[in-house]
Amino acid sequence: MPSRYSRLDRFLSTRLQLSRNALRPMLAAGRVRVNGKTTRDRQCRIGPFDRVCVDQQVLQDREAPRYLMVNKPAGVVSATSDDQHTTVMDLLPASQRQGLHLAGRLDFNSTGLVLLTNDGVWSRQLSQPQSQVRKHYRVTVEQPLTEAYVAAFSEGMWFAFEGIKTRPAEIKIRSAYEADVWLCEGRYHQIKRMFGRFDNKVLTLHRLAIGHLVLDESLAPGESRDLLPGEVADIAGLSSRG
Ligand code: URA
Repeated sequence: MPSRYSRLDRFLSTRLQLSRNALRPMLAAGRVRVNGKTTRDRQCRIGPFDRVCVDQQVLQDREAPRYLMVNKPAGVVSATSDDQHTTVMDLLPASQRQGLHLAGRLDFNSTGLVLLTNDGVWSRQLSQPQSQVRKHYRVTVEQPLTEAYVAAFSEGMWFAFEGIKTRPAEIKIRSAYEADVWLCEGRYHQIKRMFGRFDNKVLTLHRLAIGHLVLDESLAPGESRDLLPGEVADIAGLSSRG
């Protein structure tokens, strides 16, 4: 996803078609306002949610930040467009899709909580592989589970392809073929590969929560809703809490 942030001098120079030297007196004279405040700092970062004015002219109005949860069904791609399959974006009414991107993915046949937003800072915090936000999954598998999984998941596993050891993960065995798993990172097919170490095939994988944000049980597969302001703030503040 291209960055939607820019330094103030770059932003002004593109919008006004002026050299950066030509902008200096404009900034020094206090003619530029960012979110209603006079700004003389040419390095100030401008993002999509900032309102920028020069004199009485509005160069950019604030875009309203948007955050949605979707209950992803199986057989849907975590992408904004795809030639062959239904995407998570296709699940939203066309009028709501503008400017949104996914904050993290689930595999084609995985189900459950997926987030969409137009806020790139928020989504990066959640979806980078190194993100510390805990994600909660319910998994059913082909072979019976044993206590050996608990130690192996919490010790971490060597992933040769990435050259990394997975962070400690938690697994709680619910029954012979069903477990809850908590990960605080998101490597490619991570859960399937972890069970794969035991030659155990994952049959279903459902994401129940990301950080403190729990999938709304009233959402049928394919349905979505806006996040509440408290949900947005809480999940974003979780990176250090785990
Ligand atoms: N781990 C997987 O293997 N698949 C997912 O969709 C999510 C986590």
